Amino acid sequence: MTYIVNDKCINCRYTDCVEVCPVDCFYIGENTIVIHPDECIDCGVCEPECPAGAIVPDSDDYPNLQHWLDINTKYSSIWPNITQKLDPLPNADSVNPEKGYTEDKTEMFSDAAGPEE
Ligand code: SF4
Ligand code: F3S
Repeated sequence: MTYIVNDKCINCRYTDCVEVCPVDCFYIGENTIVIHPDECIDCGVCEPECPAGAIVPDSDDYPNLQHWLDINTKYSSIWPNITQKLDPLPNADSVNPEKGYTEDKTEMFSDAAGPEE
């Protein structure tokens, strides 16, 4: 089992999650973040820290779970590691599902890498 980041992170990228991970297994993209499934120790600490509700266990029944597990697996081996919080992306609050945004953000995913620490 692992935890994964799903579409709810896209264009928010609050990065509160990275500071609590005991094994530093987050990797950053241009407009989202992913978890390395082989490094995650399933502690669950990051899940309640995300202001967008974007972190879920892979045992969850979230729609497109396999798609997001594949995204986390692929891009955690490509993008740079991140361990320290950054500012959220501009307009993060306006696309935050926890603040009333209801659209699926899957098509907004960028495969470009995020900034190196
Ligand atoms: Fe890190 Fe724990 Fe979250 Fe896995 S579940 S990404 S180990 S904080
Ligand atoms: Fe994304 Fe939530 Fe972390 S919005 S960067 S998964 S705190």
